[in-house]
Order: sequence, then structure tokens, then C-alpha cells
Amino acid sequence: KQHYSIAIDGPGGAGKSTIARRAAAELGFVYVDTGAIYRAVACAALSRGIDPSDEAAVSALLPSLQLELRWTEDGVQHVWLNRADISSELRTPAVSTAASRVSALPVVRQFLLEQQRVVARTHDVIMDGRDIGTVVLPDADVKIFLSASPEVRARRRWLELQEKGAPDTYEAVLADLIARDERDSNRAIAPLRPADDAVLLDTSGMTLQESIDAILKLIRKKV
Ligand code: C5P
Repeated sequence: KQHYSIAIDGPGGAGKSTIARRAAAELGFVYVDTGAIYRAVACAALSRGIDPSDEAAVSALLPSLQLELRWTEDGVQHVWLNRADISSELRTPAVSTAASRVSALPVVRQFLLEQQRVVARTHDVIMDGRDIGTVVLPDADVKIFLSASPEVRARRRWLELQEKGAPDTYEAVLADLIARDERDSNRAIAPLRPADDAVLLDTSGMTLQESIDAILKLIRKKV
């Protein structure tokens, strides 16, 4: 066997990225945040004035996008788009909404599929997303579906935004998150759902450290 792969899926704000990044550091694996590449496509569409739901326009945009993932020494993923690091532009509410729209387009998912698989073929990875266990890495060594109640997830996201000085209210963050869950879960292609062989983990009542420990325990049974 060449490389280990761990799939972590779940809705936004469940803590996937922080938990997956810390667990990857602990194991010496590469952490791959797949949401960031959907966000990069969304960002490109928005900056060119393209409606993120317009399949023909987004499809025409894709060939001009050269996406690249790079990691800092301490394992933080950066997304490069056409030779510019756009990582700092990806986490705004406008980009979140646009990402969940472009990600419903089959042409976008197809475009990004092989790029995700290549990383997993060449590294030991913890990959987080919505369809990693179901579509991208159906043979992953461990699959985890991480969730938490919408209120808990909205509160975590809101605190993150507050720290950055963003003006969004808790109510707006919650409404956004619920709308995004709806879109991600009900889309025709690669909807958000646990793989049949995924372990379900609800982090609503858990601290960050407890969640990381629980995940590491699940992974170490297999790796
Ligand atoms: O995880 P994150 O919130 O950064 O993802 C942004 C959006 O990208 C999600 O709402 C979802 O629509 C989409 N996405 C996806 N498949 C993935 C990762 C993200 O459809 N594997």
C-alpha cells in the first residue's frame, strides 16, 4: 500500500478544518482542505462578474484557472490561482455562498475531482470536504462524518468572524449556514451525506481538543 488516506466530511462549521489540520500535524500527514478549491473557483467567478450558478459561463471560465495547493512548514494549506496566493480572500460570507453555488455544477466537480485524487495518490492525507468518503476517495482507510447542531456551528463561525472584525450578526451567520447546508445536501450531484462506512461524530458537546482526540483514536485503530 502506497499512502494512507483519511476522509473527513460534514457540514460547514462542524470544525472539520481545524480538527483535520491538527490531527494531520499529529500524524505527519498532509491536510487537504477541499472546500478552499471550490472557494477559489467561486472567487474567480465573482472577480470576473460571473454568476456562480451560470453553468455555461462558469464552464467557460474553468480552462483559464490554474489551481495549485501548497503547504507551509507548519502544514497550513495555501491556494494559488494563476500564480497568486489567494488564500486570504477565500473565507468571506460572499465567497462561501458562491462556493456552494459553483460546487453544485457537475462541470466544476469534474474539473476538481482528479486534482484532489492526485494529492491523495502522492501523499498520506487527511482530506476534508463534503463528498470525500462518498466520491473522491471511496477507498479511504478511515471515513469520518463530523457534525454539530446548526446553532453550535453558527456560533463557532460567528466567533471566528468576530475575531477578524467582520460585521456579520449571529443570526445572519446561522441563516447562511442553514441555506448552505440545504444546498449542499439537496444538490443532484455528490450531495453532502455520510458514506455507508463512515463513523458519525457529533461534536456539539465537545471541546476542540476532545474532538481531535476522538478523531485520532479512530484513525489510529486503522493506521
Ligand atoms: O468547507 P467549506 O465551507 O470551505 O466549503 C465551501 C463550499 O464548497 C461548501 O459549502 C460546499 O458547497 C462546497 N464543497 C463541496 N465539496 C467539497 C468541499 C466543499 O461541494 N468536497
